[in-house]
Amino acid sequence: MKQQFCVQPSSRVEGLISVPGDKSVSHRALMLGAIAQGTSHITGFLPGEDCLATMAAVRAMGIGVVQHDPTTIDVVGQGMHGFRAAGRALDMGNSGTAMRLFMGLLAAQPFATELFGDESLSRRPMERVAQPLRQMGARIETTHGTPPVRIAGGGKLNGIAFNMPVASAQVKSAVLLAGLYASGETSVSEPAITRDHTERMLARLGYPVRRSGSTVTIAGGGTLAAGPIAVPGDLSSAAFMVLAGCLASVGEVIIEGVGLNPTRTGILRILELMGADIRIEQSPGEVGEPVGRLVVRPSRLSGIEVPPELVPLAIDEFPLIFIAAALASGETVVRGAGELRHKETDRIRVMADGLRTLGIDVEEFPDGARIRGGQFRSGTVDSAGDHRVAMSFAVGAARAEGPVTVLDTANVATSYPGFAAQARVIGLDVTVTGHE
Ligand code: S3P
Repeated sequence: MKQQFCVQPSSRVEGLISVPGDKSVSHRALMLGAIAQGTSHITGFLPGEDCLATMAAVRAMGIGVVQHDPTTIDVVGQGMHGFRAAGRALDMGNSGTAMRLFMGLLAAQPFATELFGDESLSRRPMERVAQPLRQMGARIETTHGTPPVRIAGGGKLNGIAFNMPVASAQVKSAVLLAGLYASGETSVSEPAITRDHTERMLARLGYPVRRSGSTVTIAGGGTLAAGPIAVPGDLSSAAFMVLAGCLASVGEVIIEGVGLNPTRTGILRILELMGADIRIEQSPGEVGEPVGRLVVRPSRLSGIEVPPELVPLAIDEFPLIFIAAALASGETVVRGAGELRHKETDRIRVMADGLRTLGIDVEEFPDGARIRGGQFRSGTVDSAGDHRVAMSFAVGAARAEGPVTVLDTANVATSYPGFAAQARVIGLDVTVTGHE
């Protein structure tokens, strides 16, 4: 039997927790640590399956990674030209970030590489990265637009000025990583602000990065100096506990050590617009990434029209926003979020199906949905193997009339190992049954 969550209703949510490390930052710490000169000491690393795929790939290409404990690692960087051919295809698992960022990083290496992934990743679009890399001179083939991806390597790259058609931090990062190896300058102009972890970490490791308006520019041929990297708690994981705290009728949840990068905080702004009681306390003296703590209290949520400019700043939190909308009073409209159809699953369709099963009225659009707030009844919803869909339904199920079963939840381990146990710590009644 595949793993599933069985959730019983509960109304008190309280406690003080810190969530596992940020997934986006953990991938980048491994990749940039690998091409830096010297040993980078990384704390707060996320030992989730996605980042472990990146760790295995970095190791397979000859870079030493010492894992002192699950969250503390040293990456023994060998400089810009330290990677060696792995001698086998590299498995990216479920991770779009790993695959797309490695496409950029490996485009300029002197050896060929093949990247593949699991069933979900094998359906996701890769031409959005391959095309700009080809413009830079890389020889890259996708399989009808999707993985496996073959990178010929050995070519010389030229800098480009890339006008990115989709608001994607993965595409931006891939082009910038290739740009480290290209002649001249590489710039990426984004149609909307997307997460800037790559730019921040490059700068932190001593690589000059310029931002002017919506354009980021780097010059090829520089070097990175190893340094300590403190990975903050993942706001995308904290968001589940934030919504649990809002939906409760009693209690207070405090989440410490959470990343508060403004290119990620769209979820907090959207929940606040819906009426959530969230206090954000940013810690002074940020190094690299802003960090702070969140204090969340039971809230009365109301439906809103989600401002389109917040969509890329909350792109991973829409499964959760759909749950908030379903349990709010009134109607919520999400538009301009067509990218959700290209995530681990088609998140608009999978969420709409699950919400309808629980008795909620949802109208689907190609780029979003209209959700009428109501009451969850008990039932069984299918997460379709999508970690964020699974965790979102687990949080919402606490407010259902009776028990809810969430199917196919093993992939929660890709981003939030220990989710169910931590949910129980704050008072949710989530039981895990079955296994892979
Ligand atoms: C990520 C960027 C986002 C996000 C993903 C992680 C990153 O994808 O959905 O979970 O680390 O750069 P897109 O940039 O494709 O929107």
